[in-house]
Amino acid sequence: MGETLRAGVIGLTGIGQRPMAPGASSGWGMAMPHSHVSAYDYVADTELVAVCDLSEDAIAKYRSDWDARLPEVNVYTSHKELLEKENLDIISVVTGDNVHAQITVDAVDAGVRGVLCEKPIASSLADADRMIEAVESAGVPMVVDHSRRWMFPWVQAAQLVEEGAIGEVVRVVANQGGPRAMLFRNGTHMCDTINWFAQGNPTAVYGINEKGFEGYGPRYASDGGHDPDTDPAVSILVEYDNDVRAFWNQCKTMPGIFQVDTYGTEGYIQVSQDRATITTGSKNNLLTRDIPHAQHTQGHIAGAVTELVDLVRHGGTPTCGPKEARQVMEVLLGALHSQDSGNTRIQFPIQDA
Ligand SMILES: NC(=O)c1ccc[n+]([C@@H]2O[C@H](COP(=O)([O-])OP(=O)(O)OC[C@H]3O[C@@H](n4cnc5c(N)ncnc54)[C@H](O)[C@@H]3O)[C@@H](O)[C@H]2O)c1
Repeated sequence: MGETLRAGVIGLTGIGQRPMAPGASSGWGMAMPHSHVSAYDYVADTELVAVCDLSEDAIAKYRSDWDARLPEVNVYTSHKELLEKENLDIISVVTGDNVHAQITVDAVDAGVRGVLCEKPIASSLADADRMIEAVESAGVPMVVDHSRRWMFPWVQAAQLVEEGAIGEVVRVVANQGGPRAMLFRNGTHMCDTINWFAQGNPTAVYGINEKGFEGYGPRYASDGGHDPDTDPAVSILVEYDNDVRAFWNQCKTMPGIFQVDTYGTEGYIQVSQDRATITTGSKNNLLTRDIPHAQHTQGHIAGAVTELVDLVRHGGTPTCGPKEARQVMEVLLGALHSQDSGNTRIQFPIQDA
């Protein structure tokens, strides 16, 4: 174990500070701890020294949940004051996405050594670019919490794909149903998973918005993603530079499905919220078996924190860095551009509308 890294969390809603529930079990993909404060409390190499929120209610809730356990943590209502006073090593940016960029840039200017940012990285490509420029020019590692990158069995399925267990990847087919088929709130997770399994860089996109959302427009409203009625479902086709194509169906009136099927030249892998299978074999003799999933040991945020600590200490390439997170935003915004221009094919790179 090396030096203990001083950590701070900006944004104290549930994902920012929810405590581990007593006896919480590590259910499929949702192992505890499931918040940034509880992840820093859990990961031995970090010490939470400060938290911040603009809202007195959020601070009061944080205090009632954590003051007894973490009495030394300083509480702020200004992230700039926190950064000036606390000499942080790492920061979690857990506010709404419209302020991720400014807080990240301020944190890098103040000398932090690592950034963990919630998804989506930002609400525009220009803001994502500001963040990338800030961390790259300062040589600061940044990880974006596209959660499945640290969740079993998604990790195991991706590893099998990378090892060639289904041959060469040719298609990804994803289904996301139910009211929470939301392009920006949960679609960010789905899109990152699709890009990850496709193993290439997206080059073009087509999008058709679900009925009722036709006029949403080419920009992300960045309104927090709390209301499924204001975050559109979109049917999307993505082309990649390795000739993979992804068909991504979002539909709010379908049952609540979250499933990704990755097709290779020698089989396919299917991962959903409660089952992961691999199917291989010859044409008339396909065999499907479960992908045995490792015991959950820690939640995705603790996984991301552990990775960031390692990157700060030893360098390396993040599992999901700001460039991968920007690609997600480019696909989502590209799909809106497509809808807005009469469902035409939109080639990358694009710019904010
Ligand atoms: N990875 C996941 O599974 C997961 C789950 C939920 C939310 N999220 C992401 O986490 C982030 C937060 O989500 P949310 O729904 O809690 O957002 P939210 O907008 O409801 O609230 C975030 C908190 O940030 C505070 N805040 C806003 N601006 C601030 C500033 N300048 N300084 C300090 N505090 C500030 C707000 O007062 C609020 O308490 C979003 O990016 C969201 O997409 C990720």
